[in-house]
Parts: sequence; structure tokens; C-alpha cells
Amino acid sequence: MTPLLQVSNLVTEFGGGKGRPGLKAVNDVSFSVERGRVLGLVGESGSGKSVTGFSIMRLLEHPGRIASGQVIFDGTDIARLSDEEMRRLRGKRIAMVFQDPMMTLNPVLTIATQMVEAVRAHDDVSKEVARQRSRDALGLVGIPSPEERLSAYPHQFSGGMRQRVAIAIALLHKPDLIIADEPTTALDVTIQSQIISEFQKLAEQSNTAVVWITHDLAVVSRLADDIAVMYAGRLVETGPVSKVLSTPRHPYTAGLIGSVPSQNRRGERLRQIGGMTPAINRLPEGCSFRTRCDLATDGCRAMPALLAEADRSFRCIHPVTREIA
Ligand SMILES: Nc1ncnc2c1ncn2[C@@H]1O[C@H](COP(=O)(O)OP(=O)(O)OP(=O)(O)O)[C@@H](O)[C@H]1O
Ligand SMILES: [Mg+2]
Repeated sequence: MTPLLQVSNLVTEFGGGKGRPGLKAVNDVSFSVERGRVLGLVGESGSGKSVTGFSIMRLLEHPGRIASGQVIFDGTDIARLSDEEMRRLRGKRIAMVFQDPMMTLNPVLTIATQMVEAVRAHDDVSKEVARQRSRDALGLVGIPSPEERLSAYPHQFSGGMRQRVAIAIALLHKPDLIIADEPTTALDVTIQSQIISEFQKLAEQSNTAVVWITHDLAVVSRLADDIAVMYAGRLVETGPVSKVLSTPRHPYTAGLIGSVPSQNRRGERLRQIGGMTPAINRLPEGCSFRTRCDLATDGCRAMPALLAEADRSFRCIHPVTREIA
């Protein structure tokens, strides 16, 4: 089956030009998502997850730009679309839930005005029908008394409520692809659960493809089919969630899993990966993780190739082989 979204060798840079290289926030990233599947895109802060999302949406702001590589959505190279064609795609067929909901919401308009406008931007329906759809969407994300809440302004909502409204707006048109950037981080666990269920339903019943960006491996293991792990702008490991989380190959993935409390390790201290993600303008040559890696050797001073192993891949010459308890 042809994937709905195919990202190939994507490089997104900030700055540079006039012969000077830019800083690669996203470096040679390739992955694909089929209809009805959920990809969890994980990695520490600054690893390039949001910039990957913005690149796919063509929402990079100056000085950010796609330097090379391709984003193919449903057979179309998005770089070839006009701004107007891209605008028509956004919101209707591809939606993004931004890490900051105020990127979606306009502070000076009521939620009703914004949602009705969002419905009618792509569908020729009456205001009443659009309002009904907006109310239903707010209900789906667990907003109590949606009719009353519609006449409120964003500042009258808590951060978590604003996030839910932004999710509701993304769901309005049942898009083919949703890129959800830390959509449930600000939410309490009950609401988080409800929203995860809504995304699961969307994937199963509407065949929506989802890229779910998060730090939270517990959510990924529950929701995602596949996982892509980013480190310092590069993908270091990809594969089916169950396999990658039970037998991570890349030491960074193993480290991330090690820093999640598990039932088997209850009572033990959380293990953290030592050190910090290096800034993208100060990456060590070769494997970017080597300065924090217990397994690193001189061989890691050269960039490791992406190795394929059945349906998974990883970028490491000292892959971990043990199973995670
Ligand atoms: N507008 C910008 N100008 C310059 N550099 C930027 C810009 N936006 C992002 N970057 C750089 O790109 C890199 C990746 O940032 P990105 O926001 O994608 O990280 P992230 O994985 O989403 O992190 P987080 O988990 O904190 O949201 C960072 O090193 C950041 O400094
Ligand atoms: Mg981010």
C-alpha cells in the first residue's frame, strides 16, 4: 500500500545561505505513515520534532526552510503546491495540533466565531450547521457545556481547555492526516485518556493517519502502531512500537525507556540519560549521541549508517541486544 505521508531525506535548516551552511534542525529524516496508522514521534527537547511537523505543514517561518528532501502527501509533492493549494489542504486534509494552542486560536474572537469560520472555510454549510458541528467537536474532546463555552474567548479558558479547543478544531474536518504536537501534555490523565480514545477512533473508523509528537513513551505505547525516535535532528530508530519498546536497538532509545518508571522497576530510582542533548550548532562529529553513550567507541566518530532489520531500522554500530524487563 502506498503510504499517505512519505517523508524522504528531509533536511530543514535555520539560517545559513550565501555559501554558509545553515543549522540542520532536521537532518536526513525519512519515515512514512499509512492511512489509519499512528506514528509516535519521540525524542528529548530540541531534537527536531516540532520542526519536522512544521516542515510537513509548510509552516516554517524565516529563517527556517526545507533545504532538501521531499514530503509526499497522498502522491503529491507538497513543495509543488501553490500557497493557495497548500492552504486548501491545511485544515481540511491535513491538520496540525500545535504545541502552543494559541497558534491555532485568535485571542480576540470567540470560540464560536473561530470554529464556525474553520468549518465554513472548507465546507459550504450554513452557520447553524457549522455551529452544531463545532458544538459536537467540543463535546468529543470533553468540554463540558459546549454550547455555553462556544461564546467564550480563549483567555476565559485554562491552558488545558485551550488545548482541547485546538484539538477540536483539528478534528472538525476529519482530516486524512493529523500532526499532533504534544497534544495532551497539559491535560490531566482522565481527559488525556479521552483524547487518546478519540484519536484511536479517528484512525480506526475514519482511516486518519496520525503523527503523534511527544516525550511520553507511555502514551506512545498505548496509542501508536509505529515509533520514530529523534536525536539531535536525526532519526536514530524506527519500527513497530511493541518491538522497539521491548527490544530497543539504539542505546538512546534504551536510555529513554530506562527513564520511564515501570511496574517491574517500581521503587527503583528513575534512570536518566547522563548529559544533555548537544545544541545543533555544537554536535560532535559522527554519531551525535556518542558523547552521552556508555557503549561508544572510536568507531562512533564516523556517522553510522541506518541499518535495516526486518521492519525496523536504527543508526548504531553497537546495537543493544538485551530485552527490556
Ligand atoms: N525559529 C527558529 N530559529 C532557529 N532555530 C530554531 C527555530 N525553531 C527551532 N529551532 C531549533 O531547531 C531545533 C529543533 O527544535 P524543535 O522545536 O523541533 O524541537 P522539539 O523536538 O520539538 O523540542 P520540544 O520537545 O522542546 O518541543 C532546536 O535546536 C531549536 O533550537
Ligand atoms: Mg516541540
